[in-house]
Amino acid sequence: MRLLKTLTLATAAASLALVSLHAQARDFRLGLITPPQHLWSTEAEAFAESLHERSGGEHSVSVFPGQQLGNEAQMVQQLQTGALDMAFLTIAEISNRIPDFGALYAPYLVDGVDHAAALLRSDTAAELLELMPAEVGLVGLGYGMVGMRQVLSRSPIESLDDFRGKRLRITPFEPIRDFYTATGAAPAPMPLLEVYDALANGQVDAIDMDFDSILILKFHEQANHLLISNHMMFPMVGVVSGRVWRELSSEDRELIETTMAEHLENVLSGFQAMDAAQEAEIRELDIRITEADADFFREAIVEWEATWGEKAPRLEALREEAERLRQ
Ligand code: BEZ
Repeated sequence: MRLLKTLTLATAAASLALVSLHAQARDFRLGLITPPQHLWSTEAEAFAESLHERSGGEHSVSVFPGQQLGNEAQMVQQLQTGALDMAFLTIAEISNRIPDFGALYAPYLVDGVDHAAALLRSDTAAELLELMPAEVGLVGLGYGMVGMRQVLSRSPIESLDDFRGKRLRITPFEPIRDFYTATGAAPAPMPLLEVYDALANGQVDAIDMDFDSILILKFHEQANHLLISNHMMFPMVGVVSGRVWRELSSEDRELIETTMAEHLENVLSGFQAMDAAQEAEIRELDIRITEADADFFREAIVEWEATWGEKAPRLEALREEAERLRQ
């Protein structure tokens, strides 16, 4: 009798363990706006593979590139309700909700992609991520980026005056809107995947863009003047829904955090590795190039800083960190 009772208890415990094991197995969904061939998308796929492997096949991740789940504002809402588990998001959308992130877009905060990557790997940048759970209900696990911002246009831009009145495509976020407004341009917020047609049909005169996207999405077919300005970095963040995060065991959190951080690091180092070759490739195109530096944008920068110095108090700490990294 005693043996039967022990056996029954053991069977019950075993089936409970099995149920809880199955309760933890998940097919996560990860959304992002970049097209499938973009490094963010290929690293998202690589993250999915690594997580599947390292969880012994227990977890899988379905990746939805190219804005299949909506734009970033819509994805943030889905992440907040737990309808979406993970995303790689531009900091653009985060800065619309947490102005302190606007500091990362300070014009000429960094000198180029190597400096940008070093700043994004710093503790000062990591401290910004700690604002995310309380302020937007997302857990930020690390930064990625694309290359520095440039201005591709249908007619030449050779001085700050040439921006006046130009309809200029921007990624939809406030720090960049304020920068171009200060140049005298008319910013036209528009998602990445709508830019080619907008240039082709003359809806915009110029676009704010990075070398990689210009090449992948062939924007140079529709505009043949490029201002190589390197005026801003363009960070990305890998996030998990706060609601989903709370449901995960500490082992799963650790696994997701380390695995995603590894693939975000591949994005940072990937853009560092590609930048010079992409610039060289663009310089070979049938395209007229002008170069610009902080002096070129001086008046616009003064105006931007008057607004964002107040809105993003962490700008000072980031500047100090950026200066330390220059030495
Ligand atoms: C953009 O909006 O310009 C953009 C967004 C994500 C990756 C690259 C560019």
